[in-house]
Amino acid sequence: MRGIKGIGLIKMNNLPIEWLGDKVRILDQTRLPQEEVYLELGSYQDIASAIAELKIRGAPAIGVVSAYAVALSALEIESKSKEGFLERLRGISQTLATTRPTARNLFLAIDRMEQVARAGQDVKQIKQALVNEAIKIHSEEAEATRRLSQLGAELIGDGVTILTHCNTGALATAGYGTALGVIKQAKKQGKKLKVFVTETRPLLQGARLTTWELNRANIPVTLITDSMAGYFISRKEIDCVIVGADRIAANGDTANKIGTYTLAVLAMENGVSFYVAAPTTTIDLTLGSGDEIPIEQRSSDEVTHIQGIGIAPEGTQAANPAFDITPHYYITAIITERGIIREPYVERLKKCR
Ligand code: MRU
Repeated sequence: MRGIKGIGLIKMNNLPIEWLGDKVRILDQTRLPQEEVYLELGSYQDIASAIAELKIRGAPAIGVVSAYAVALSALEIESKSKEGFLERLRGISQTLATTRPTARNLFLAIDRMEQVARAGQDVKQIKQALVNEAIKIHSEEAEATRRLSQLGAELIGDGVTILTHCNTGALATAGYGTALGVIKQAKKQGKKLKVFVTETRPLLQGARLTTWELNRANIPVTLITDSMAGYFISRKEIDCVIVGADRIAANGDTANKIGTYTLAVLAMENGVSFYVAAPTTTIDLTLGSGDEIPIEQRSSDEVTHIQGIGIAPEGTQAANPAFDITPHYYITAIITERGIIREPYVERLKKCR
C-alpha cells in the first residue's frame, strides 16, 4: 500500500538473556521489531517487572531469567545464618511466582533453585551454588531446544507450508526455539518451507517477533490475522501446524497462547497435523488434565489498545485470558528433546519426565 512503510530489519547484537555476574541483560521484546534495546537488570524486582510486562517472555525464557533473578537476589542477601537466608529467598521466589502463573518452566526453575539452596552448607557456598545452578538451567534449556528442534525437523517434509502461532524462537526460549526451532532446523536440512504466522492478538508476538526471527533465518513468511487461519487451513494451503507450550498436563492437554485451541480444532477438522514442541521442563505431571492449569488473566487494556493506541470506545469492557487449553486428542504429537511423543500421552509423558 502506498505511503505505508514496513519496519527495517535490525540485527540481534547480543543474546536474548545473558548473565553478567552482578546483573542480567535481556533484549526488551516489547521494543521489537522497531528497536533493539537491551536492559541491564540489577534486582529481582526489576526482573519480576520485566517478566510481567513481557519484556522477556516465552515459558522457557521465563524459567531461565527467573533462575537468574533468584541467583542475583541471593548475592544481595546479608543474612549470615542459613535459616535467615532461606527465609528471605522464599519471599523472593514467591514474588517471582506471581508474574506469569501459566508458565510451568518458571515454577520448575524456582523449585530447582530452592532445592539447591536448602542442600547447601553455609550462606557463602549456597550463593555460589545458586549462580552455578542458574547457569546450568540456562544451558540445559538451550540444549533441550536444540535437540528437540533436530528431532522435530524429521516430521517436516520438503516443500511444505507450516502455520505457527505466537513466538517460539530464540527470543522465547533463550536457546534455539521450540516450534520455530523445528522450522529453522528443517530449513537447515535443506528443505524448502513457507511459514504462515498469525499476528497473535492482543500483543502481536507473531507479527512483531516471529516474522522478525523468520526474516533473519531467511525463511519465507506470510503474516495473517488470527481470524484468517480457518480460511487458509480449509483451502488446504497449510500442511501442518506447529506451536509451543506454556504447560503440558500429565494427559497431554496443553496450555499455549490464546488462539491455539482454535487452530487445533481447525487442523483436526481439515485433516492437518497439529504438533506441539516443548522441552520436558514444560511438562507438569502434577496436574492430571488441562482443567487444572492456571490461566493467566491480563489487563483489558491490552485488548482495547494496540501499542498504546485506543481502538475501542473508552470504557469498553474486555476480557484477556493469555492462554487456552488444547485437549490432548487434537494433538498429533508432542515434540520434546527426549523424543516425539504420541498417544497414549499419560503413559508416554510419564516416562519422559
Ligand atoms: O505470553 P507469552 O508471549 O509469554 O506466550 C508465549 C507462548 O505462548 C509460547 O508459545 C510458549 O511460551 C512457548 S515458547 C517456546
